[in-house]
Amino acid sequence: AIDPNFDQNRDRVGEENGVTVWGPVDEPEQLGIHGTHVAVDYDICVADGACLENCPVDVFTWVDTPGHPKSEEKVEPTRESQCIDCMLCVDICPVDAIDVDGS
Ligand code: SF4
Ligand code: F3S
Repeated sequence: AIDPNFDQNRDRVGEENGVTVWGPVDEPEQLGIHGTHVAVDYDICVADGACLENCPVDVFTWVDTPGHPKSEEKVEPTRESQCIDCMLCVDICPVDAIDVDGS
């Protein structure tokens, strides 16, 4: 599962699609965590899609991640500022790849 303390345990290594990336990153096999308020561990995500399909405020966007061992698509939390902390995505993800800092 995603480390809920990633913001203390990892370093910011850049930004993609307007979203902060937390390392380590070693493309294409290791992609780190994308997002801060809504954070997706790209190295855990298997592109299930339930988060994107069910988020009531449409926070996520598909991005291509060719060559990643878990899946060749991931969800970018491009509209994380819209998040209403409903926790649906956290609860629904089958591999616990998402952390929302709602508390
Ligand atoms: Fe969307 Fe709710 Fe997840 Fe926020 S917590 S990203 S509003 S599903
Ligand atoms: Fe990935 Fe989980 Fe969403 S596997 S696509 S973060 S439901």
